[in-house]
Amino acid sequence: MDRLRIVGGHRLQGAVTIAGAKNAALPQIAATLLSPYPVELSNLPQVSDVENMLGVIGLHGAEVGRASHSTTIHAKDIVSTETSYDTVRKMRATVLVLGPLLARCGEAKVSLPGGCAIGARPVDMHIKALAALGADIGVEGGLIVASTRGGLKGARIVLASPSVGATETAMMAATAANGETEILNAAREPEVADLAACLIAMGAKIEGAGTHRILVEGSTTWRPAKHHGISDRIEAGTYAVAAAITGGMLELTNARLENMASVLQVLEAMGVSIWPSDRGLVVSRDGPLRGTDITTEPYPGFPTDLQAQFMALAACAEGASLIRETVFESRFMHVPELMRLGANISLQGTTALVRGGAPLKGAQVMATDLRASVSLVLAGLVSKGETVVNRVYHLDRGYEQLDRKLKLCGADIERISE
Ligand code: EPZ
Repeated sequence: MDRLRIVGGHRLQGAVTIAGAKNAALPQIAATLLSPYPVELSNLPQVSDVENMLGVIGLHGAEVGRASHSTTIHAKDIVSTETSYDTVRKMRATVLVLGPLLARCGEAKVSLPGGCAIGARPVDMHIKALAALGADIGVEGGLIVASTRGGLKGARIVLASPSVGATETAMMAATAANGETEILNAAREPEVADLAACLIAMGAKIEGAGTHRILVEGSTTWRPAKHHGISDRIEAGTYAVAAAITGGMLELTNARLENMASVLQVLEAMGVSIWPSDRGLVVSRDGPLRGTDITTEPYPGFPTDLQAQFMALAACAEGASLIRETVFESRFMHVPELMRLGANISLQGTTALVRGGAPLKGAQVMATDLRASVSLVLAGLVSKGETVVNRVYHLDRGYEQLDRKLKLCGADIERISE
């Protein structure tokens, strides 16, 4: 297993190219199973979760063609409507093939994803949404077993909470239902809107994606399509923290101001300057870092996927920060590891009190999930001496060439391949 070795103390300066959004790419790859025509996706990030998802749809019969700047997926015929536990266990997002397989083939058997480092992560809302569209669906022996007699039917779906994945499952399945579907309390994340844009390019008729109310016409006539995915706002936020935590300045090429408002607000409250450039965003910090309170919420609130990164930043700020995690029930795996570096954090349920200002000192730390891992790298950039982050395969799931991008901006970081 690879490790990252970081020697802290270097201000980052330079430009970082922000890749395509992982959480936009994964549902779009699943959506290609809906159509018998080729779909050319560009701006897919080169991360292992995307490779994994391309492998999964290949098991269902999709042909995957790679070009230098795009990937063409052609699911002319579906050869299997079953996905194994071993496949889903590796990556929860595999459950996103459930809706497309059921919509296209009238049946699907997909393993329940099971829990992961950040929580139980049930899929009850995905199941309820498909049942509302007329599916016979239930759980048998750890498998979600779904079928339709006579196809799915348009319906009103009211989500109990604005789940990103459940919204995406409902939207994808509704494109093939007979009649119109209304999805209420839908997730408003930019990745949901980008999935809708991809489905519309493929022939679907969808209105309101990105708002709490999405309308899908159904009975889609599919066609060959091309789609360029949005850039990754979580990667952009991560590098913004890298600039802020080291007291440097980075230009984040392709980052988009408009889908990062809540993040930029917190950065400014902490004493970080941000301004748009013609290539994206510039983030700079040369004064003191100030603590501030953060509560994670569904979009457009502060993203849970940046909570761990901002906790590392708060550990270096003057004063205290109260960080509340409201989206997942246990997304604090990074806390004990940050404390190994000297961070002063106390946990009370889903709230962390971070007392800033303690000087961080390098140590061996363990990555546990994607975003916890990168918070340790960020802390390592300012910890005195050497920090070694183990199990960086977690990082490679969602960050394209993280060590290389940081090294190009002046970080003393190297990957040690075992
Ligand atoms: C997506 O996960 C993202 N993953 C996550 O990013 C992100 O943290 C999350 O949305 C929230 O923004 C992808 O898009 C591939 P949810 P998802 O359904 O769809 C509960 C990363 O680091 N819930 O919005 O699984 C769930 O347990 C990853 O890139 C149910 O109870 O998130 C959680 O507490 C991590 N029942 C909350 O809702 C359901 O049926 C939000 O989950 C579905 C979800």
